[in-house]
Amino acid sequence: MQIPDIIVAIDGFSSTGKSTFARLIAKEYSLLYLDSGALYRAVTLHAMENGMIDGNGDIDEKKLHESLGREKISFGPEGTYIGDRCVEKEIRTMGVSSHVSPVSAIPFVREYVDSLLHEFGRRRRVVMDGRDIGTTVFPNAEVKIFMTATSEVRARRRFDEMVGKGQNPKMEDVIKNIEERDYIDSHREASPLSKAADAFVLDNSDMTLHEETVWFRGLLQGKFGILE
Ligand code: DC
Repeated sequence: MQIPDIIVAIDGFSSTGKSTFARLIAKEYSLLYLDSGALYRAVTLHAMENGMIDGNGDIDEKKLHESLGREKISFGPEGTYIGDRCVEKEIRTMGVSSHVSPVSAIPFVREYVDSLLHEFGRRRRVVMDGRDIGTTVFPNAEVKIFMTATSEVRARRRFDEMVGKGQNPKMEDVIKNIEERDYIDSHREASPLSKAADAFVLDNSDMTLHEETVWFRGLLQGKFGILE
């Protein structure tokens, strides 16, 4: 099915399957997929590796601010990069997950990541997932989706994903991390996670991936009057 040059904004809670869904529709409709959370994770990894987060989780914001101008965080052939080092694996660890919400709540970090995302959005034909894509980054996106699922389903997905990557998580830590991130992401001052008024809600607690793509196809057909 041919679709116009649109931006698709996908927001929602963590572990709702946003990136799996976004990757799939990117492939099906020839869109570029951009994972905005990966950029926040890379900033967090950078801060951790350079001693900007102490044992109590306190962040040296001044040092981080100064260093962000010098460090090049970007997307490349293998995923997310800091300079020319691919950090795709390192940014998915529990250590990064436990610090990423406070780092992403810092206004200058959001400005930095937004500027990278706007750069990509200029090309159109993009599907981007995150927490504030439809509300703040691309408020004019043609299609906005807000994904949600029960916290039990989300914790199980995150747990399976980590095990699949050879990690050895504890279920109680995974649940705790998801609940903490939900809270921080929805209560922070700068661009909190919230549903855009014109976003379509996709609750996939009891849906297969295939059912999600059928739902999306129906949405596109209705929105753009495509009959096939
Ligand atoms: O989608 P994820 O779990 O990889 O995102 C990691 C963190 O980054 C998440 O806890 C909140 C933050 N984030 C954000 O604040 N805004 C976005 N657009 C994307 C992610």
